[in-house]
Amino acid sequence: LLCPPQSVSLSSAPPVCLSLLCPPPQSVSLPLVLPFSSPPPGQYLSPPPPVSKYLPPPVSGIINFGTSENKLCFDLMSKRLTQSDMNIIEPPLLQYPDWKGHNLITLFLPLAHFLTYYCKAPAPLNPENVVTLNGCGSLFSALAAVLCDSSDSILIATPFYGGITQSIFLYSGIKLVYVHLESKVSGSGSRPFQLTVQKLETTLQAAREQGSSVKALILINPHNPLGDVYSASEMLEFLEFAKRHSLHVIVDEIYMLSVFDESATFHSVLSLEKLPDPQRTHVMWGISKDFAVSGIRFGTLYSQNQDVCNGVASLCYFHGVCGTVQFKMAQLLRDRDWINQVYLRVNHARLRAAQAYVAEELRALGVPFLNRGAGFFIWIDFRKYLRAPTFEEEVALWRHFLDNKVLLSCGKAFECGEPGWFRVIFADKTHRLQLGKSRQWPTVAVQRQAVTCGNFKPRQGWTNPGAR
Ligand SMILES: Cc1ncc(COP(=O)(O)O)c(C=O)c1O
Repeated sequence: LLCPPQSVSLSSAPPVCLSLLCPPPQSVSLPLVLPFSSPPPGQYLSPPPPVSKYLPPPVSGIINFGTSENKLCFDLMSKRLTQSDMNIIEPPLLQYPDWKGHNLITLFLPLAHFLTYYCKAPAPLNPENVVTLNGCGSLFSALAAVLCDSSDSILIATPFYGGITQSIFLYSGIKLVYVHLESKVSGSGSRPFQLTVQKLETTLQAAREQGSSVKALILINPHNPLGDVYSASEMLEFLEFAKRHSLHVIVDEIYMLSVFDESATFHSVLSLEKLPDPQRTHVMWGISKDFAVSGIRFGTLYSQNQDVCNGVASLCYFHGVCGTVQFKMAQLLRDRDWINQVYLRVNHARLRAAQAYVAEELRALGVPFLNRGAGFFIWIDFRKYLRAPTFEEEVALWRHFLDNKVLLSCGKAFECGEPGWFRVIFADKTHRLQLGKSRQWPTVAVQRQAVTCGNFKPRQGWTNPGAR
């Protein structure tokens, strides 16, 4: 149960095992077995208690630029979540809920209003079609179990948020089929790692010819780790592709309010005038990212398919949100004035500033990266700093950052087909971004290339790719 699947990969890229508890497959000898986005055990960045209330605590451990969290708005959120309207406990909140949610009025109505407004739905969304679970990770697990049999698989474009692999596999043994996207741009108007219907068609056909029973497609918009925001017409094309092939579509919109670039516009699929296949379209959103509170486990599903809603809701017994948290979330999400006038303005301004800081650092060094206006990450192209274009080399560079006490996530954690891409999280406090800079994380990659071209001596513990 604890081993993630050997992914159904249609490329020659070797699968890598991301679980701490599962050794990598024999064919790939990686020097480390780590979940590349998390700090090594025992070295988690936990700053000592603040010395002064006004000075940031000193950071002596590894700086975590690997976990996709927004650390810029704890002040706003802790203030809002401790206001007096949050501290009401009615007896039903302390009792067993009806798992679909006894909180039809208390929670699902405000949630449906929230989604209607922020997803710009053409008509009010129906609270009966809303289900909440403790996070979108749980929703992926639940949806996989409800939509698929264990022999089925789900289509997804790579690179993608790697946690999905485990989420859909752990309970149900469902595997992913990868649509490998490339950084190479094919013509004017195209962009790196662009998903197209043609690529979906080709991969689906090949998978079916090889005997895979593909049941669903996962779309992430805004995208993690690319930061891409798909246009409404792109999303419509993907949904129409899915309809042609009778695929369910799980649309992950968890970053929908984290589009901080004013020139980028997010289009929820719930804003479409008409969904091509409403009974097979399931949209998820959660508060981890957009409200900077990943510790409060809360994710929500909107689906017009009542069987799917009921199936997912039956798993609330294991993955439900407790009554008191449901109540607080409802209070938060119905406070539109605060969200619009205070929270989103400040959050977006802080995200813009933090992104600009890290982007400037990369630009100054001439390191290429994808400059997008959504999410908390920059997708960096360190390919030219690898000694050889291999995933072993990618891990060696990742290890090198770690030696400099900076944790990034390497492309393999997102099943990227090209070695050398890294994701850095910029949504962090200035003092930690500055400290990261002083630890010279991008510079060490650049310098490493200079050393490689000259008289490079591998440090102890580094893997020499030539030796294998
Ligand atoms: C695209 C995407 N979907 C889902 C999740 C999981 O979110 P949650 O905290 O709600 O489980 C993440 C977390 O990183 C994510 O990046």
